[in-house]
Amino acid sequence: MRSRLLDLLDVQHPIFLAPLGGGPSTPELASTIGNSGGLGALAAAYLTPDQLIYDVQSARKRTDAPLNVNLFAGGYHASTQDDPRPMLGLLEASHREVGLPEPNLPVVPPDPFDQQFEALLSAKPRVFSFTFGIPLASAIQRAQKRGILVFGTATTVREGQLLASAGVDAIVAQGAEAGGQRGTFDVSFEEGLVPLRALVAGLANAVALPVIASGGIMNGREIAEMLRLGASAVQLGTVFLCTPEAGTSAPYRKALLDAEEDRTRITYAFTGRGARGIENAFMRQMAAHRDAILPFPMQNLLTRDLRKAATQQGKPEYLSLWAGTGVAQIRAEPAAQIMRRLVDEMQEALGGPGRI
Ligand SMILES: Cc1cc2nc3c(=O)[nH]c(=O)nc-3n(C[C@H](O)[C@H](O)[C@H](O)COP(=O)(O)O)c2cc1C
Repeated sequence: MRSRLLDLLDVQHPIFLAPLGGGPSTPELASTIGNSGGLGALAAAYLTPDQLIYDVQSARKRTDAPLNVNLFAGGYHASTQDDPRPMLGLLEASHREVGLPEPNLPVVPPDPFDQQFEALLSAKPRVFSFTFGIPLASAIQRAQKRGILVFGTATTVREGQLLASAGVDAIVAQGAEAGGQRGTFDVSFEEGLVPLRALVAGLANAVALPVIASGGIMNGREIAEMLRLGASAVQLGTVFLCTPEAGTSAPYRKALLDAEEDRTRITYAFTGRGARGIENAFMRQMAAHRDAILPFPMQNLLTRDLRKAATQQGKPEYLSLWAGTGVAQIRAEPAAQIMRRLVDEMQEALGGPGRI
């Protein structure tokens, strides 16, 4: 399979690993996807600069294939005028359930983006991708001058146009079906819930850049459909969450494998941003208290102890179980095996390898 984007990247298949922040992202998973002919990714938004460099080096020990390193570029509320007391009150009962003391108001550290970005530049992966906003044009240019390709995340056609004006090299189209936190930055999260097929077709029409389709894609037939709609590649997250190479916790894996049909919903409860995950008790409880939910990253910091304790105790009802709408198709298989199956299914659906 060849295309302008794949030629630029020197990658064989148009199948990219999504950056999977908060635990599932590992150098092992990224390098396995690279060694299987796809583009591997490291989620670095929750990493310190030193951890970012360490993870890139760990991946490089396992593969020479190109690598995508992902950061959060925006949406960071270092301070908030919102009253935290209603949320602290609501969290008390959940804390009691897992044997934690009363929740305290955390101190929000400064936005880590600038320091992470310096580490990324020194690690020099083939791709810098970002979500939640757009970095300064000077940062995009600095990356490109170092030979790093820059991918931005759009959830609407207009966001794609803004990214194109900012000078990115490709656009990740994150459809409403996508698991995890949403990249929406120009409209409300509700308005940013555009179904993937409409988003890819709209972006392919409106923007003269490669489009990478992301959200709910679980098999090669769906990959072929995206390529036919005008995408140059796809970016998959959920399909790889139960691989042995992923860092997904045991209760999270179990909930993913148990999920039938589409049990995913959009929630703001865990991080303060709109995100898709398997519905659980915490999501249901917080849905009635939308006004009490604090912005990112305060809400994320506030629910961290709860999620950590719930992971240790195997209680999925208090975990952020990020997953896309295709979660019922998930399988616990090695990543290389999944890649082989996706490539075979895609080529069969496309009628053989070729140029897209
Ligand atoms: C557990 C998890 C963590 C994620 N973390 C990130 C992240 O750190 N940065 C990012 O740009 N996207 C992140 N995403 C979103 C993915 O990039 C992608 O949009 C999504 O996985 C695609 O939908 P799918 O999971 O149905 O394949 C995450 C998704 C999941 C499921």
